[in-house]
This record gives sequence, C-alpha cells and structure tokens, in this order.
Amino acid sequence: MGTDETSAEVMVRMVPEQVGDWVLDELPRLNEAILRDQAPPGRLVTEVREHVLDRLPEITQLTPGQAQRLLVHLGFVGASVARHYQERTPGGVEHPEQAFAGMPVGDAGIPFRGYFAGVAEQTGTGHYGRDSYASLVRWNVGTIQVLLRGEMVAELPGIFDDGRIRSYTGTPGEERFFLLVKQGEAIELAVNGLLEPLAVDHADLIGESARHRVREATVLLGAMRRLFLDFANRPSDQTMAAEMFMDVFRQFAAHWTPDDIPPSGALDPEALKRDFLLGIAEPGYDQQARRLFPALLEREREEIGELMSAPALPLRLLTAIGTDETDLRLSDDGDLRRLIAHHPALIDWYRLLTMHARVSGAHLMLSKKFLFKPQRQRDQDGLGDRRLVSNRAGTTGMTETFLERITRARQRHVLAALRPLLIGETAESTLDSEVPCGRGAAAPVVLELAG
Ligand code: HEM
Repeated sequence: MGTDETSAEVMVRMVPEQVGDWVLDELPRLNEAILRDQAPPGRLVTEVREHVLDRLPEITQLTPGQAQRLLVHLGFVGASVARHYQERTPGGVEHPEQAFAGMPVGDAGIPFRGYFAGVAEQTGTGHYGRDSYASLVRWNVGTIQVLLRGEMVAELPGIFDDGRIRSYTGTPGEERFFLLVKQGEAIELAVNGLLEPLAVDHADLIGESARHRVREATVLLGAMRRLFLDFANRPSDQTMAAEMFMDVFRQFAAHWTPDDIPPSGALDPEALKRDFLLGIAEPGYDQQARRLFPALLEREREEIGELMSAPALPLRLLTAIGTDETDLRLSDDGDLRRLIAHHPALIDWYRLLTMHARVSGAHLMLSKKFLFKPQRQRDQDGLGDRRLVSNRAGTTGMTETFLERITRARQRHVLAALRPLLIGETAESTLDSEVPCGRGAAAPVVLELAG
C-alpha cells in the first residue's frame, strides 16, 4: 500500500514533466514534418497517444500549478491535432470536434476535450475548454518584469522556470511573437496599476499625485508603442516573417468546436481594462468584449466587468472640474485656454489619451504589416485565402476595418477638443519625430525576462 502511494506520488510529479518535454522538443518536429509532407498527419495522433495520452495522471491528483502547466502542454497538443485533421480531412472544417475522436485519455478512455476541461477546472482559474491567450502567452512565456527608471513597476509571472517558450513548430519567429505579446501585456499591467487607484470612488484626479500617475502611465505607453514600432522595423529574421505568421502560426488557431473562441491578442485582459478605464467611443464595444468573456479567466471577467459598469476616468475628470464633453466641444479657444490654465491636469490626461490612441495606431500598423496587407496582395495575385483560418480577419473575427474603427474611436477621446491647443506642445509632437527603435532619455522602461 505504502509503495503504491509513493509511486502514485512520483507519477503525479513526473508524468506532466515528461509530457512537457515531449511538447517542447518532439511536437514542433512532428508538426514541421507534417507541414512539409514528410510525415503523415496520422502519425501525430499515434505519437500523442503513446507519449501523452497514456501517461496522463488522474486530474484530481494535480495541484493547481501542475494543472496549469499541463493545460499549456495539452493546448499545444490539441491545437496541433485540430489543425492537421481539418487541413487534411474533407469536411473536417465543418466538424472540428471529430479531430479528437481517436484520442481517449488513459485506461478510463476519457475523451480528450473532457479531460482538458477537467484539467482547466483543476487550475482553479476558470480557464476555457481549449487553449487560450492565458495559456499560450501569459502562462507559457517566462516571468516578465517592467522596470521604470530602475524601479520595478510590474511583474507578470509565467508558470515555467525553464526560460523556454513553447511553440507549435519551434521557429524563433513564433517564440518572438509570444514574447512580444507578453511584453506588451506586462507594460499594460504597469499602466493599469497606475490608473486603477484613480478609479475608486472620490479619488482625486487632478492633484499632483494623480498627475504623476497619469504622466508615468503615458511614459509606459510610449515605451509600448516603441516596442511595437521596433518589432515592425527590425529585419524579419530578427522578428517574424509575415508568411510564417499567416501560414504556419495562425493556422494553429483552428476551431476545436464550431462556435468556440480561438486564442487571440483580443483576449489580452489588460488592453480591455485600459479601454474601459480610459473609455472608448465605439458603439457596441461592451457587447463585443462580453462575447469574449468565456475565453478569459474568472478574475479577468470580474475585473473587466467591474470597470465596464463604472464611468471612465476622463468622464469623471470632467465632472470633477465641472464640465462635460459637449461643453468642451462647444468652447472656443479662449475658454479652453482658461480651463487648461485653471486645471493643468487636463494636459497630462490629454497626453495620456493621445498616447493610448497612438499605441492603438502602432498595433494597427503591425496587423496591417503582418496580416492584412500581405493578404490583400495575395488576393490581388489571385492566390486566395487559407481554407482553415482566414487571413482576411483576426481569429475572433476582427477585420482591418474594425481595427481601424476602434483606433479612430480611441483618437476621438473625451479630451480631443483640446487638440488644437495642445498639439504643438505635448508629447505628441516630440514622440512623432523619434527614431522608432531608439531608447531615448524619455524611455526608461526596461523589460527583463526573469526566470
Ligand atoms: C506582429 C504583431 C501583431 C499582429 C500582427 C497582431 C494582429 C492582430 C489582429 C489580426 C487582431 C484581430 C484579432 C481578432 O480578430 O481576434 C489583433 C487584435 C488585438 N491585438 Fe494584436 N497583433 C500583434 C501584436 C499584439 C501585441 C504585442 C498585443 C498586446 C500587447 C496585441 C494585442 C491586441 C489586442 C488588445 C487586440 C484587440 C484589438 C484592439 O484592442 O485594438 N497585439 N491583433
């Protein structure tokens, strides 16, 4: 009995690690071989059965941390199986769940997606029943710390301490993309950490302490924008090739069931929080965000839901200084000048909202460079689209037009009426002329990969 207990304990500790090694080293090789027609797609399921499914532990034996790590691994396995099945099976796209038919787990023969859902529950995070932004990006990539002038302002933990980034085919471009997104989220976390205390009832939004927070948040967003521009400006062998993004990486975001929500940057919770903290004039944006809720974690759903139901900070700011958006729009230059002279905090808030919009513009540029423009070229050349995951829209269905619209909505912010007065004297003009990848004196953000 004692011996059994010990071996069961060892099983729980060892097996997920073996599965992890297989996902890190073997799965990418196998995926590459199948994509190059050097291995039949059926080999993946055979090997998954032997190296993964037959070795999985009882779900209840897993600690939440072990469950999280296993979930990341099973997410890569599930995505790989789903992709190859649908790409190679006539009618596969219409019945994606069939991909998992030959994948019972363990002696009890638990269906793969059922086992996955059980592991998701065991994490205690409210994770979705398939791979997600959280599992692929936040949990997968190591801990990232954001340092501002040498002081740590945010830490976004990962759940592995091996310094490795799991990916579908092991190509550096995939790893760089996951890293970029997590770096972005870490900076956003720091920004939200500065802004959230201002969202409590009766918070002072115009005093020196609030202004300091707003200015620091603007510096951080400026650094995020430069991170994006730098990624776009580096040669593709130092970032990622658009073809790789479109034909290799994105095709692993196929459906597991017809109506599920595939992983996407749109599920970055810190970006959603920032939109609700700063406000966004896009009709239906709340519903759009709520549609994504199932694919978020429980804590994220709660936090975003709370921010959604409260007035955005710039609206509270205007109330605090006794005006509103319509008043601002109807004011002449003289009135606005007097208002700013009375409440110089308006300048800081204006700069913050402007930088928020500029980050959105930089992101739009990334989406055009790595997806929408090359797909337009393919369409013009008569090459058409990918059958599995369309390159004419994002994985949750956002089109180029929609991304342009929400970027414009961020530009049309509550303080936009101040633009004619402030355009020449704010960070807007200074940063416009910056060398995109430079780290000038105004860019003291350091991102460190810890662990
Ligand atoms: C090469 C880099 C990138 C490309 C090509 C890209 C592309 C895209 C695409 C196509 C969408 C639409 C998604 C959908 O339909 O679900 C999207 C949305 C989004 N992505 Fe990215 N993305 C990149 C980098 C990033 C990074 C680094 C972040 C986070 C820090 C991020 C955060 C978001 C967010 C929040 C959305 C929702 C739309 C919005 O709020 O503007 N993306 N991205």
